[in-house]
Amino acid sequence: MAFKSILSLVALAVAASAAPAAPSAVCSQGRLAKNAACCKWFDVLDDIQTNLFDGGECGEEVHESLRLTFHDAIGFSESAVREGKFGGGGADGSIMAFAEIETNFHANNGVDEIVEAQRPFAIKHGVSFGDFIQFAGAVGVSNCLGGPRLQFLAGRSNISRPAPDLTVPEPSDATNTIFARMGDAGFSPNEVVDLLVSHTVAAQDHVDPTIPGTPFDSTPSTFDAQFFVETLLTGDLFPGNGSNVGEVLSPLHGEFRLQSDFEIARDARTACEWQSFLTNHDLMVAKFTAAMAKLAILGHSARELVDCSEVIPVPKPAAVKVASFPAGKSRANVQAACRATPFPTLSTQPGPATSVAPVPPS
Ligand code: HEM
Ligand SMILES: *[C@@H]1O[C@H](CO)[C@@H](O)[C@H](O)[C@H]1NC(C)=O
Ligand SMILES: *[C@@H]1O[C@H](CO)[C@@H](O)[C@H](O)[C@H]1NC(C)=O
Repeated sequence: MAFKSILSLVALAVAASAAPAAPSAVCSQGRLAKNAACCKWFDVLDDIQTNLFDGGECGEEVHESLRLTFHDAIGFSESAVREGKFGGGGADGSIMAFAEIETNFHANNGVDEIVEAQRPFAIKHGVSFGDFIQFAGAVGVSNCLGGPRLQFLAGRSNISRPAPDLTVPEPSDATNTIFARMGDAGFSPNEVVDLLVSHTVAAQDHVDPTIPGTPFDSTPSTFDAQFFVETLLTGDLFPGNGSNVGEVLSPLHGEFRLQSDFEIARDARTACEWQSFLTNHDLMVAKFTAAMAKLAILGHSARELVDCSEVIPVPKPAAVKVASFPAGKSRANVQAACRATPFPTLSTQPGPATSVAPVPPS
């Protein structure tokens, strides 16, 4: 190669690294965006952090907003697309536009509250329901200590059709059923685990309505790996019979375990992905971020949307990056299911066993 063209390559590389993405728009409070179309999202951000998320908390509203990103987007079917049928429009806001239909589906039990809480914000700011739902989830989870900074692409159409019933998995579904449904939306079993990282900032209200706010791990406001170790602990069988027969409860008082999480944690197809997050927070965040980027644009093409990711706040890091056994628990209480990799050495939290506090209602 001629010396001159090497020089110009170097010059190009320097120019590119010095100004990879020069912001072209100055938005409110001097904040910068690459695309002027993103500016309005800073105003949505300010509004929801103050008026929806109680000043930037990682509480009930955030948990519900994150859940809603899934329940809207998973209304999508690759097999329907192949057959030229309508199987749902994906992340299209239909769960808000047609709330009277979709929130009556059994698997959507309880999402009506956050749909109604979010809707006025979307209307006030003139943004599409599909965009708003994904934005609120991304902003919300950035409030959780150690949380991800999710991608946010804007520009989904506000026009949608109601998704059909039975696209959202249920905790009582067999693992094969869940993997088949998720596979039909484009997710591998390991990517289902990656999405289930969300259950580290989660609680139940409606599976057992007598104990609302019961979290899935001991740290429901922290985006950590406690969910992944606590779901692997041996538990007690559900006392009684009926639909809960065979269900294994969390051994931690005040903690709720979904049957689907119990099974996916122990399934040969997914146990190693599950275990891999215990000692690798960066990996857990990276896998979740990648899977959420896919989820958020189901039914869309990234090329048709505008990247406004700079609007999503940078989360505060978690103090603890490796999971530990709750007080009183040890390796002897673990049902390790990954055959390829030994279970990692984890420390045990000091002190007597404590009860997990419920997530307060907002
Ligand atoms: C794959 C199968 C999944 C099943 C069977 C499932 C099931 C459930 C159930 C039954 C609840 C409790 C709801 C209630 O009683 O209020 C719940 C909560 C939650 N789920 Fe999932 N989920 C799945 C995947 C996901 C995904 C992919 C996400 C997000 C990306 C997600 C995010 C959440 C969050 C954040 C909560 C907590 C809501 C709150 O605390 O108010 N889930 N999930
Ligand atoms: C989106 O559609 C809903 C009706 O489903 C409407 O109330 C809302 O104003 C629309 N938003 C925009 C930005 O067009
Ligand atoms: C199931 O539980 C109910 C009450 O909880 C009891 O009356 C019934 O006999 C039980 N059935 C079986 C098969 O154990």
